[in-house]
Amino acid sequence: MIEKPRYAVFGNPIKQSKSPEIHALFAEQCDRELLYRAVRVDRGAFAAAVAQFFDGGGAGLNVTVPFKQEAFDLADHLSERAAKAGAANTLTRREDGTVAGDNTDGIGLVRDLVANLGWMIQGQRVLLLGAGGAARGVLGPLLRERPQELLVVNRTAQRAEQLVREFRDQGQVSGGAYALANDRQFDLVINATSAGLDGTVPDLPGELLTERGCCYDMVYGAEPTPFMRWAAHHAAWAVSDGLGMLVEQAAESFYIWHGARPDTGPVVQQLRGAMNAL
Ligand code: ATR
Repeated sequence: MIEKPRYAVFGNPIKQSKSPEIHALFAEQCDRELLYRAVRVDRGAFAAAVAQFFDGGGAGLNVTVPFKQEAFDLADHLSERAAKAGAANTLTRREDGTVAGDNTDGIGLVRDLVANLGWMIQGQRVLLLGAGGAARGVLGPLLRERPQELLVVNRTAQRAEQLVREFRDQGQVSGGAYALANDRQFDLVINATSAGLDGTVPDLPGELLTERGCCYDMVYGAEPTPFMRWAAHHAAWAVSDGLGMLVEQAAESFYIWHGARPDTGPVVQQLRGAMNAL
């Protein structure tokens, strides 16, 4: 009997991970046989766990909080987008035993915005909230879509200033304190902060959105997030959470490993249904 290729997602915490379900649905759709499980790895034990997984014949890993930077550090080869993001969420064992690192978060966001939601990035004024790992991961792919302008604002202004310095050669990007968004209007506002996790919204000016301004929260949940509620309250043209991004980043990892692109729509629908039923 041929053994099924093994995949996993490493993170901590990992209990809530939807990746095993997503990859199982993709595999079914694309007629692939594979095993995919979620593994909680102790902090400090990541590199050893990765080595053990690949030495034991594992084919590919997804990496989530808090290990994406460590995954970047231990990869023998990096894709351009992982190198720019300074983080890796997809590790693949090559035939020669070396490990390749990629980052599919940014392309996952762009695909959800452009292909699924039909929102424009090209030529638009875009505001990105936050300058942590989540913001860094999506900055390059967003700039690649050629927005008219991309402003990155963060509670700690220096972090945003430093981040945009690293991406300045890639497009029209600037950054600093939230106050930079005062008296300005944007076509698209993306929340990449973790403020919602403690039930708050970054300190935003009220008149931030153009008439057709759209708001996207990279976080998702059964209930609208605080930022989504802020967006609805400020008459956003359209609002979305980040469930589609989650599925799209998984689809891009699936593509790296299996060379097939699953249809993500039904998978998003199924996850949404399961979440709402809870
Ligand atoms: P992640 O990997 O999720 O980006 P992170 O690197 O810890 O995690 O970054 C968290 C981001 O959310 C940062 O931009 C942080 O702002 P600071 O750099 O000023 O800390 C932002 N953030 C977290 N809580 C926030 C809050 N209550 N209001 C505004 N921004 C917040």
